Amino acid sequence: MTFISFGNTLVIMNRTEALTLLKEHVKTESLLHHCISTAAVMKGLAAELGEDTEQWELIGILHDIDFEEINEDMSLHGVRGAEILRKSGVSADIADAVRKHNHMLFGGTYTEKVDICLQTADSISGLIIACAKVKGGCVSDVAVKSVVKKYKTPSFAAGCDRNRIASTDSLVAREKMYEIAIREICAVKDELGLS
Ligand SMILES: [Fe+2]
Repeated sequence: MTFISFGNTLVIMNRTEALTLLKEHVKTESLLHHCISTAAVMKGLAAELGEDTEQWELIGILHDIDFEEINEDMSLHGVRGAEILRKSGVSADIADAVRKHNHMLFGGTYTEKVDICLQTADSISGLIIACAKVKGGCVSDVAVKSVVKKYKTPSFAAGCDRNRIASTDSLVAREKMYEIAIREICAVKDELGLS
């Protein structure tokens, strides 16, 4: 369960409240979709690993909250996000995961499952959505075997870092992870404008 604080009062933060906070800072539809799809994958991985599905989903929703405010200065990415979250009263656990997810600053240091899974979720979400677009926007038509193939094609969705996708290989079998990512993105397809 995740709390946000107002003064001395702690209240539960839910998915809707996290999306409302995100939308105060992120206006670009594609980035909102990226955050929603990354959150979906995080939720699925948490369930697979017996972790806190609600907390991991919130981390996914909020992980890029600073992206439009850092003016492409990647040395600020995550760090600024954590500041925004702390000022908004979001729990330190969430703020810290957001701070650390910038692999340009913290790559190679991840030992916690949540941090490792966020690396994968952040990158596989884009690959799955790119696969759906090849299928006319139909994510339910994306097959694990086509994700396997597209992963091995570096020019396809080239911005989706294959090394980051592979982060969870020691936690979840790769094809199982693809299956989870497809299933969970499918569950939020309406919010992503997919079918
Ligand atoms: Fe991201």
